[in-house]
Amino acid sequence: MSAGRPADRTSLWLDRSAPVADDELPDAALDVVVVGAGLTGLTTTLLLARAGLRVACVEARYVGAVTTGHTTGKVSLLQGTHLSRIRRHTSASTARTFVDASREGMEWLLRFCDDHGVATQRRAAVTYAATTGELGTVEREHRVAEELGLPVQWRDRLDMPFPHVGATVLADQAQLDAMEVLVALATQVREHGGTIHQGRRVRSVSTSIPGSGDPVAHLDDGHDLTARHVVLATGAPILDRGLHFARLEPQRSYALAFSGGPDLDAMYLSAGSDSRSVRDAPGAVLLVGGSGHVVGRTRSAQAHVEALRSWTASHWRDVTETHAWSAQDYRTPDGLPFVGHLPGGGGRVHVATGYEKWGMATAVVAARAISGDILGSEPSWAGVLHRRLPHPSGVAEVARFNLGVGASLVTGAVRTVREHLPGTGGAAQAHECGVVGVCTHLGGLLRWNDAEDTWDCPLHGSRFTRDGEVLEGPATRPLRRRSPG
Ligand code: FES
Repeated sequence: MSAGRPADRTSLWLDRSAPVADDELPDAALDVVVVGAGLTGLTTTLLLARAGLRVACVEARYVGAVTTGHTTGKVSLLQGTHLSRIRRHTSASTARTFVDASREGMEWLLRFCDDHGVATQRRAAVTYAATTGELGTVEREHRVAEELGLPVQWRDRLDMPFPHVGATVLADQAQLDAMEVLVALATQVREHGGTIHQGRRVRSVSTSIPGSGDPVAHLDDGHDLTARHVVLATGAPILDRGLHFARLEPQRSYALAFSGGPDLDAMYLSAGSDSRSVRDAPGAVLLVGGSGHVVGRTRSAQAHVEALRSWTASHWRDVTETHAWSAQDYRTPDGLPFVGHLPGGGGRVHVATGYEKWGMATAVVAARAISGDILGSEPSWAGVLHRRLPHPSGVAEVARFNLGVGASLVTGAVRTVREHLPGTGGAAQAHECGVVGVCTHLGGLLRWNDAEDTWDCPLHGSRFTRDGEVLEGPATRPLRRRSPG
């Protein structure tokens, strides 16, 4: 691997993307306010605008700022080892419903791309075992995929330089540039009368307004938007009523782009917990991702980036790094996304989260379910996603998530005492940055992320800039400033 210009922290997709213009805030009541301009938010906005509803999409930062702008852009029904995880926690019928819904989501997305000039490349999806220890996991994924009706094929050998001992392969999946999709969606939203408002953070949503019953989204600039429905498409929901944050495990993973890469005919993902994701992109670009961890629960995020770097260097010597970035998504106890109503919202506040890094198809699934719910034309599979009962193994997963939260609370408290000694660790860093290193969501003790210069919360995944502005997660308020002196 040769030396290139210093890799920046912008994703390949955001670096190439044209900015999306803003609209004037509407001054009359709306049918729907959608919060979040990623793939879920903009697809929901478009589906509702196409149906003739007055709909506005409000984004705290900019289009694609959170998960969609940082994805690896794979659109596949074979999703690493996700299907066998879902199957472990649900019946074959429920898992099949998820696959059917994902197939519809994928077909909708690829049709949209074809219709609106967004380039896609057809590629096989590959889940491979890097070691004999991972072989059983991949064999199980292969069996589950077959059980769920996917025409997977087994391969003992792949024409790739990294170590592997077996793989399951699903032909004719796809890859794309996620920001090209968002820009095309934004254009279509406007053509159908919807509006987009960036740099406007929704701080809270009121749902019991006397005499009206309509929810009201309160923006941090003092504006209120009243609508018959509010859709929270914000990754982790920004309202706490459903306690979704307690049933989600926030995951962070990393990606690198390199110029001078090979043409590949497949998208690869290893099955181990320290995964490696490989795909190509137009312009001889090689993309390598993985090395994930629970948000805020690693000693050094930079070490994860370095692990990806050295893995790439050991297999492709002549590529040059151009971009390094990271992404966040949320695991659910049973592997299925949460799509449905927020409790206490009278069926008027909708939420979608928990895509487990497979958001390109699942975001469209969620958008179709939510827009169908609002329009009275829900797809037949939607009920399975939002009315499922917790499986016993799912309950155990919730307990595991919260044990992790509890452990972080304890180690965080110990760390805080230790780190308030001058000159050490994250709390000292907080002093230097002039902020209080305590999460504004529910008081988690923040960890300094040395790869991205951010404050990350190990409890539910909120993240803040060095200066304390909210980047993502359930928090909606910036970090408190330290009082001078
Ligand atoms: Fe919940 Fe920080 S994200 S306490």
